[in-house]
Amino acid sequence: MTGKIPQPFIDELLSRVDIVALIHQRVPLKKAGREYQACCPFHHEKTPSFTVSPTKQFYHCFGCGAHGTAIGFLMEYERLSFSEAIEELATQQGLTIPRDMPFNQGTDHKPLYQLLAQAANYYAQQLRQHQAAHRAVDYLKARGLDGQTAAAFRLGFAPPGKNNLIQFFGKNTSMALMSKAGLVKATEGQYYDRLRDRIIFPIRDGRGRVIGFGGRLLNDGKPKYLNSPETPIFHKSQALYGLYEARQTHRQLENILVVEGYMDVVALAQFNIRNVVATLGTATTTEHIRTLYRTCQQIIFCFDGDRAGQDAAWKALQTVLPQIKEGRQARFLFLPDGEDPDSLVRHIGPDAFQDKINQAQPLSEFLFDKLESQVDTHHIDGLAQLAELAKPLISKLPESTFRAMVKKQLDERIGLTTQIPAPPPEIQRPTIRRPPQNTRTMPPLRRAVALVLQYPEIAQHSLPDHWQTLNTPGIDTLSTLIHQARQNPQTTTASLVEQEPDPKLRQHLARLAVTEITVQDDAAEQLRHILNGLLAKNQREQREQLVQKNQPPSQMSEAEKQRLREMYQ
Ligand code: UTP
Ligand code: MN
Repeated sequence: MTGKIPQPFIDELLSRVDIVALIHQRVPLKKAGREYQACCPFHHEKTPSFTVSPTKQFYHCFGCGAHGTAIGFLMEYERLSFSEAIEELATQQGLTIPRDMPFNQGTDHKPLYQLLAQAANYYAQQLRQHQAAHRAVDYLKARGLDGQTAAAFRLGFAPPGKNNLIQFFGKNTSMALMSKAGLVKATEGQYYDRLRDRIIFPIRDGRGRVIGFGGRLLNDGKPKYLNSPETPIFHKSQALYGLYEARQTHRQLENILVVEGYMDVVALAQFNIRNVVATLGTATTTEHIRTLYRTCQQIIFCFDGDRAGQDAAWKALQTVLPQIKEGRQARFLFLPDGEDPDSLVRHIGPDAFQDKINQAQPLSEFLFDKLESQVDTHHIDGLAQLAELAKPLISKLPESTFRAMVKKQLDERIGLTTQIPAPPPEIQRPTIRRPPQNTRTMPPLRRAVALVLQYPEIAQHSLPDHWQTLNTPGIDTLSTLIHQARQNPQTTTASLVEQEPDPKLRQHLARLAVTEITVQDDAAEQLRHILNGLLAKNQREQREQLVQKNQPPSQMSEAEKQRLREMYQ
């Protein structure tokens, strides 16, 4: 587990990184005036509207509205999490991330990663070289895998014998470290290789680092699969087999299929269905789902059609509900009895399998089908029961168009509204990001915020007295920004945006940071002008309030009062 990354470090990092160079390595940029341009990597276009500003250290697409800092770019383009993006940039700059949590200080997992990488190399090499490897190769061939797929997933072979790996590492590697990495285990004070005579599936994290292994027997013995135990870097509740490989092959994944087995992931990849991950013998967790939604907007859960599969799917539905924010979707694919994705794709072929993926059941349909199977929908008691069952589930959904639609569907199903045909249950609403707002229609305080974001240096100038006493909405945000900029005179637009902890507000600031604002004279003067205007307005309002208070008891007749009431009805 990692601690919170301190803000000053993020500021430091953003001040060192050059967003133009960072993006140019991935999307070739052309200079256009003071800025750089390219065709947007986040949507399809023929003429470039993707702009990178070296002064603001910000990118912005005038076509699709995508925008952000170097961190945001890496997150979107490389599909990294926030901390992964920071790690990537820090590594590039040769910096080590200081972590906030004291117990994390000094925990450096590098030796573990190195050891696991070496072990993965060893297993892969054994699959090619060991005298007993032909059995493993035959096994993989018999299961229909070719060398290319095996190589893409870096499959390996742990030879028979109790201490091949231990011998490979030799005396210079500490047993404690090997044990910590989950590679060996001790019986009566004696260490043995944990994985023996098994096909090895290296499990990688989102950045491609090996974090653990799964090992399959070549015969029908038990346990069929043996996995790495929980280690400081391997957590089954977080790991997703195949995620790295899936991210590698598709830049922009439309959806991700979640299956149960290693072999399912590998077999589907062999048939060129590569947007597939597997949980490691556990139910899908909130963390899994969070990771997946960072990679794409649609998750398709794949389960056996049997009772156990239905139950597992229902559990997954409950786990995913709280994370279905605007634009996100979840679907459910139930397989015919006795089939898993590996067997099914071989029986029906990749095209038919892809059709099944495309026809997967939308979440709302699965939800209502399941609940309706539990009640008698022909009687009002049953319908009332349906409403009772559905309500707590619907309330798990965050506020969104989707939630409103599910609610409406419930009303229709229980007959609260006339039966108009239901809209398609899960319309993917394109995330419409608003184009830059016209400055003239922008409320003054928002313009002030935009000014400070885009010209952080103006915070150093003197501002009108008492401006902080303004009670205009948004004044807190402005104060925070000015305070930050004063504390750190070198601050950039990007840092000011990134320091905002609330994601909604951060998104709002990011938008303001790229909104075109016309600065007539100088920006500092304009900020003063806005604040003076607001102060004057404030004073006027206060005066009016006082005048009102000062007025004698109303002189209006009853008839006049009545008329006034009517006017306000
Ligand atoms: P399955 O038994 O469905 O796996 O278990 P599979 O991939 O279809 O196996 P074969 O090779 O085709 O027979 C699904 C997952 O559950 C975990 C593994 O992660 C496996 O991929 N599992 C299963 C274990 O951890 N241990 C076991 O003994 C069995
Ligand atoms: Mn299988």
